[in-house]
Amino acid sequence: MKNISIAIDGPAAAGKSTIAKRVANALHYTYVDTGAMYRAATWLALQHDVDLTNDEEIVRLLERSGLELRPSESGQRVIVHGEDVSEAIRSERVTNAVSRVATLPNVRRYLGELQRALGQRGGIVMDGRDIGTSVLPHAELKIFMTASVEERAERRYLENKKRGIETSLSDLKREIEKRDKMDMERAISPLTEASDAVRIDTTGRTIDEVASEIERLANEKVSR
Ligand code: DC
Repeated sequence: MKNISIAIDGPAAAGKSTIAKRVANALHYTYVDTGAMYRAATWLALQHDVDLTNDEEIVRLLERSGLELRPSESGQRVIVHGEDVSEAIRSERVTNAVSRVATLPNVRRYLGELQRALGQRGGIVMDGRDIGTSVLPHAELKIFMTASVEERAERRYLENKKRGIETSLSDLKREIEKRDKMDMERAISPLTEASDAVRIDTTGRTIDEVASEIERLANEKVSR
């Protein structure tokens, strides 16, 4: 059986990571959340009080951090300096700063190389913003996942509520719009749809429906 690479790109809160995890489990593939790597870089910069525009210093922090994505029962864990920072990188502080760090050319080059190395052997589902266009341009299956901004804000709202965080829906909508804009307008590997991507709008659709559709597309590629 051929092990393919699956790239899933799209804006914040479109459902990428939940669905990517589901698809990876079903196919017995490795799941890689590349957003978590940009979040880890941002977390490191904030921890060390490094200016968020200091590209070279953030790369130095990354080089010394032993950044690792470790698969576990509860999904991918993010390890920095041997410490599990999977929860810490989801904080509001990191979320509000990460799009800025994701514009830095050397940080993108450094993390892009790590991601490319992880994707080399296939058998991978990688989600992010530039996977199909830049990190794995030869991925056999590329998905561009979208959803209305209203639905994305609603999903984040419910997710936060489950984690005991009270947020305002209108603030979330504004933050998501701001993040989309930064991700789409940055100079290096901005969020864009690859010309050979399959576009899936998840608005009003269940996780199961979308995951099954991607599994079907993947199986078609594998059996070809
Ligand atoms: O998917 P996420 O919300 O965890 O991503 C965090 C940020 O990282 C988001 O603002 C976009 C950026 N990102 C990126 O620029 N390239 C990627 N491949 C993945 C994420």
